[in-house]
Amino acid sequence: MVRIGAFLVGLFFAGWLLISFLVGAVAYVTDPPAKTVEHEFHQAPKHVSFSFDGPFGKYDRAQLQRGFQVFKEVCSACHSLHYVAFRDLKALGYNEAEIKAIAKQWAIKAPDVDPKTGEMSTRDPVPADYFPKPFANNVAAAAANNNAIPPDLSLMTKARHHGNAYIYSLLTGYQSQPAELLKAFPDSKTPEGLHYNPYFANLNLAMAPPLTADDQVTYGDGTKATVDQMSQDVAAFLTWTAEPKLENRRRAGLATIIFLLIATGLAYMSYQNIWADKKKAA
Ligand code: HEC
Repeated sequence: MVRIGAFLVGLFFAGWLLISFLVGAVAYVTDPPAKTVEHEFHQAPKHVSFSFDGPFGKYDRAQLQRGFQVFKEVCSACHSLHYVAFRDLKALGYNEAEIKAIAKQWAIKAPDVDPKTGEMSTRDPVPADYFPKPFANNVAAAAANNNAIPPDLSLMTKARHHGNAYIYSLLTGYQSQPAELLKAFPDSKTPEGLHYNPYFANLNLAMAPPLTADDQVTYGDGTKATVDQMSQDVAAFLTWTAEPKLENRRRAGLATIIFLLIATGLAYMSYQNIWADKKKAA
C-alpha cells in the first residue's frame, strides 16, 4: 500500500515536471525571448598564438620585457598591479641593479609615513615594494575615469575567458558602432564618454583606447611597436603576472606523467611476476 502511495506521489511530481517543461518549451517557440544587443553583437576573443600556448609552451622573456614596458609606459597610469612586486621582475630576466633602477624611477611613488610625526608622505619604491597604485582610492580612480574604476590587472587574464586573447582583442578591438547595430537597436547608441568595443561584455567601456598609434613605445630590442605587437606583448606580460609559475607547473606535470607511466610499467611487470606460477600451472 505504502509502495503504491509512494509510486503515485512520484508519478505526480514527474508528471508535473513534464507538463511544466512542455509549457515552457511551447512558450519559448511561440514567443521567443527578445534578442539583446549584447547577444547579437558581442564577439568571442580573436585567435592569437603565444609562445606559452600548449603543454610545452614557454614564456618568451624578450616579449615579457616588451609587455612590461607597455604596462609601465601606458597602462600603469590608470591600472594597479598590486600582487606583483618589483623584485618579481627578476623572472623576466632583469638583474638586481636594473630592478633597483626600475623601482626608483617608477612614476608613481610608494606611500610612506614619517616615523617621527606620523604624517603621510611618499618615497621612491624599492625592489621589495609591490607596484604602487596610481590612485589614492576608488573615489579618486572613478572621478578620473568617467565613473569607472580601472581594475587591478594582476589576475585579469585569469578573470576572463581566454584571458590573454581577450586582452589582446580588447586592445585591438575598438571600432565605431556598426550601422546594423543602430538600425536593429536604436536605443543602444554608445553613451557619451564610453567607447564601443565588441569584445567587452556589454559592448561599451569607459576605457578610451589606450594603444592608438604605432611606435607609442620605443622597444629596446628593435621590435617594431605596432598596435598589434604592443597588444600581444602586454597580454603576454599580464599572463605572466597572473601565472608566474606556469612553466614550473607544466614541468611538474610532465615529470608526474613520466613517473606514472614508469610506475604503471613496474606494476604490470610485478603483476606478471606474482601470477607467473599460477599461469604456468593453468
Ligand atoms: C586613462 C586610463 C586607462 C589607461 C591608460 C588604461 N586603462 Fe584599462 N581601463 C580603464 C578603465 C576606466 C577601465 C574600466 C572600464 C569599464 O569598466 O567600463 C579599464 C578596464 C580595463 C580592462 C578590463 C576590461 C574588463 O573586461 O573588465 C582591461 C583588461 C584593461 N583595462 C587593460 C588595459 C591595458 C592592457 C592598458 C595598457 C595598454 C590599459 N588598460 C590602459 C582605464 C585605463
